[in-house]
Amino acid sequence: MSITTLPIAIQPVAKSRLPEVDVNNVPFGKVFSDHMFIADFDGQTWNDLRIVPYGDVPLSPATSSIHYGQSIFEGMKAYRSDSGDVLLFRPFDNQRRLNLSAERMAMPAVPESIFMDGLCELLRNDKNWIPSKEGSSLYIRPFHFATDDYLGVKASDHYKFMIITTPVGPYYSHPLKVLVEKSFFRAVPGGVGFVKASGNYGRSLYPTQLAKQKGYDQLIWTDGREHKYVEESGTMNLMFVIGDKLITPGLRDTILAGITRDSVLTLARDWGMTIEERPVEVREVVEALEKGTMQDAFGTGTAATIAHISHIGIDDIQYELPPVEKREFSNKVNFELDQIRRGRKEDKHGWVYRVS
Ligand code: COI
Repeated sequence: MSITTLPIAIQPVAKSRLPEVDVNNVPFGKVFSDHMFIADFDGQTWNDLRIVPYGDVPLSPATSSIHYGQSIFEGMKAYRSDSGDVLLFRPFDNQRRLNLSAERMAMPAVPESIFMDGLCELLRNDKNWIPSKEGSSLYIRPFHFATDDYLGVKASDHYKFMIITTPVGPYYSHPLKVLVEKSFFRAVPGGVGFVKASGNYGRSLYPTQLAKQKGYDQLIWTDGREHKYVEESGTMNLMFVIGDKLITPGLRDTILAGITRDSVLTLARDWGMTIEERPVEVREVVEALEKGTMQDAFGTGTAATIAHISHIGIDDIQYELPPVEKREFSNKVNFELDQIRRGRKEDKHGWVYRVS
């Protein structure tokens, strides 16, 4: 357990909104729990750690993150175990990745103690917002953004680190139709594709809108040089089972190092599966689809968990994948991960963190 040197001031809500909300039946990311955590960076140190009622944050119109994009975030989930404990999944990995993003975006690191203590205190206050329904959880959004009111282009001196939470069910309600994107790029070598910079998501919206007009749910991004290799999908890393091998694009600076991605690979390794983490050519995806050797394709992510892919579109051809019920690996790993996250199965890798 980390030790915070700074106290966290708590201002509880006068009246909880919880009685008005059915946490087991809410749309993703639209209903927020009673409180939020805030810490301010003043140019030198993090200060004024506080839990306050969820609500608007006053910002200057010149707030530099709005203009120049110094804004990063994480996605995590809290679960309630069958015995009532609040469980987090690999929270220290999120904290480390937030700071990797911070470094790349010239922002100050958030110390582990502030991240973990703020998060745990928030969950202690809002634990009743964790849904009990299978497949649901409390989605946690830590985020960090520049707050200088200054229009010069420079790294900000002031920042806010905040955490909000929202009860959620599945992010995708059905298997996904994905289109291999060959005109636009998500990330380029030397860029920021490997970090959770807000702009990575903003820039993907227009190409995704175009794909939606063609009947697709999401894109498969290809490499920023030749559109020759598949990289990741909209909100997820990508995995394929071709023959008996689990194949996924190897990590590079254009791909986010997903925590769910790593967990799936670790379980697959435990089960003795052959794994290939390497550049994956669009050509070999087409080949496997045409030969019928593509057994399974899915995305992995905190919000998406394991998202089955039902169709892959490449140029003007749309390929249909095997029915979801026949997907041995993705169904098994989805179940296993869910059981571990909910404290129902042995946590061999030390992934589960109990909020005391
Ligand atoms: C997550 O999986 O937590 C993400 O951050 C993806 C998201 C943009 C919904």
